[in-house]
Amino acid sequence: MSTTILPTPADLKITPRDRRFGRDAAPARLWHGGSVEATAIYNALSSTFPIGEAYFVESVRKFREGTPPKLAEEIKAFTTQEVIHSREHDAFNRRAADAGYDLSKLEQRVEERLAVARARGPFANVAATMALAHLTAILAHQLLANPKHLEGADPEAAELWRWHSCEEIEHKGVAYDTWLWATRDWPQWKRWKVKAKIMLYVTRNFLVDRTAGSLELMRQDGVTGLNAWRRLLWYLWVRPGMFRKIAGAWLKYFLPGFHPWNEDDRYLLRAYDVSAKDAPQPTRKVRRAA
Ligand SMILES: [Fe+2]
Ligand SMILES: [Fe+2]
Repeated sequence: MSTTILPTPADLKITPRDRRFGRDAAPARLWHGGSVEATAIYNALSSTFPIGEAYFVESVRKFREGTPPKLAEEIKAFTTQEVIHSREHDAFNRRAADAGYDLSKLEQRVEERLAVARARGPFANVAATMALAHLTAILAHQLLANPKHLEGADPEAAELWRWHSCEEIEHKGVAYDTWLWATRDWPQWKRWKVKAKIMLYVTRNFLVDRTAGSLELMRQDGVTGLNAWRRLLWYLWVRPGMFRKIAGAWLKYFLPGFHPWNEDDRYLLRAYDVSAKDAPQPTRKVRRAA
């Protein structure tokens, strides 16, 4: 049996922050600095979260039985965080719908992808979840580390994205550790092969679907054809260039010995918690996932 190392920091505490955003006032349709392409990519991402996060939780919880107590506790906290994220992105998506966007095509695409994934069994699902968790965590890192990405955005919407990013970093090791636990009897080469293959597959679908989804939303704002492609690709790959900026961190996933916590970026969480401490706090106690 191969040894299993779980390099998640021993003192990491995953703490759901039960916050609510944008319930009082609706932001402008083009909430991201009046930019069609910036609003489109964030709205496209948001449209995938409620469906996608339910899938992450379902995939990880299949392996919870019998995991070491620390990991079982982290799975619980991860579940609570994702459920609250879905609630907030549901509300965010409703505001986008109220502003006139039709997200149904984008949501349908996610459902189709997940139907294919679910048919591949629990190991493929936890591997897809851990691949998407890495993508999410490196996007979240970039979003918090570089204020350019949310420059000009509606302040409350920007706060939602920062809050979500913070918790994505905090629970970035959970799916990975669940995978390490679930495959602890597998030979190293098989673990790597499945993990790498699924990451390539997931990344391809992520790029194709989010690009198509953004173009669809841009079309709903009357921006089409080559002009739409040019503006979207510039935004994603050049300036501010989110996708280009995460490419190096994405590649690290394929290195032997990779673990999401090889990069300890908790300084971003501490900075977030300091900046958010003046924000209104929930009065209700956070209900923990069962
Ligand atoms: Fe999330
Ligand atoms: Fe997550």
